[in-house]
Amino acid sequence: MNADATALRAEFPLLAAAPELHYLDSAATSQIHRSALDAVLHHETTSRANVSRGTYRLAEAADLAYENARRSVARFLNAASADEIVFTSGATASLNLVAHAFGNTLQAGDRVLISEAEHHSNFVPWQMLRDRIGIDLAVIPVTADGRLDLAQLSERMGSRCRLVALTHCSNVTGEWTDVDTVVAAAHQVGARVLLDGAQAVPHGPQDVRALGVDFYAFSGHKCFGPGAIGVLWGRQKLLAAMPPFLGGGGMIGEVTPTRSTWAEPPHRFEAGTPPIAQAVGLGAALDWMLSLPWPAIHAREKALCQALIEGLKRIPDLRLLGIDTTTSNSKRAPIVSFDIPGLHPHDICQVLDAHHLALRGGHHCAQPLLAALGVEGCTRASIALYNDTADIDALLAALDVARRELT
Ligand code: ALA
Repeated sequence: MNADATALRAEFPLLAAAPELHYLDSAATSQIHRSALDAVLHHETTSRANVSRGTYRLAEAADLAYENARRSVARFLNAASADEIVFTSGATASLNLVAHAFGNTLQAGDRVLISEAEHHSNFVPWQMLRDRIGIDLAVIPVTADGRLDLAQLSERMGSRCRLVALTHCSNVTGEWTDVDTVVAAAHQVGARVLLDGAQAVPHGPQDVRALGVDFYAFSGHKCFGPGAIGVLWGRQKLLAAMPPFLGGGGMIGEVTPTRSTWAEPPHRFEAGTPPIAQAVGLGAALDWMLSLPWPAIHAREKALCQALIEGLKRIPDLRLLGIDTTTSNSKRAPIVSFDIPGLHPHDICQVLDAHHLALRGGHHCAQPLLAALGVEGCTRASIALYNDTADIDALLAALDVARRELT
């Protein structure tokens, strides 16, 4: 398998058709890999039928494709069983599922611990749970450079902590969470650990058993798969002890006019017709990712990230948000956010767009983190395996133009 960015870029139909495009917004949505598109087209044109319902051959082909996709996800995460994989519509739905279903096993006064660095999708569901049943929601603060202040972990966990729900990797600073420290502390007080892996999974397969966590959530559209598909992995015993979140077809054991019983997980959490073709496409994207030479890709991602940071540091007044990995050994994903005082991120992004650069500017659905860092918005470059030095050079050159045009 060729890890060269040009060869990889050629495997992404949108990028292949737009050679002028410098796509640096993969943290919002990655481009979709050809294998995922091919798998969706193949499924829709050869095996399209509902799943877990039909007994005719076409329906059995759909069942097989859907359950094979579940097995691909299990392999990608090194899960103990495919029954631990729940398909959802995205990481947000996965996090809401835990907040409702695991949340329903909690009592008023039980603590859920999150951090200031969370995406809104790992803030709001817990605030809603707090307002619904009276859990005690505590927050780990971040340091001045946006890192989780784990020195405060034990104190913030307290004695009634039931769940620690954290980002695996920040969508603003690229900072990876020190999972070993979190898991050791949480399990010592009997709390479970949930990781939001939306920004981690695009940078390679994850091993939920080695991580030692209890729940893991991610989205397909950020890891080269289709949109509107996501995953919740949970330990089998935990899923089996959770009541359903959504009710409907496919999640029941038996329904009478007065009461219902539930199917076993994962089907208990997949009410209604699931995103079948999207699951098949995601399975293909993850199979493809599993075949990649990750050490070489990580080395390139890191080199691009360092070159970008070095270039940004030469821009007068520009403030980098998060750790500077050109001077620190901290582990970060290639996501770099910055603020140029006096220039609005939306204006910067519009000038960059005129130079065929796609970047996100704004609050990045992480307002608490941005507030802690002292900014309302910032501009973010997020690098993926198909980016190369040409993208970084184009960004640095266009930022120079943006500064001249906007000041
Ligand atoms: N969560 C996505 C982002 O960070 C949308 O841009």
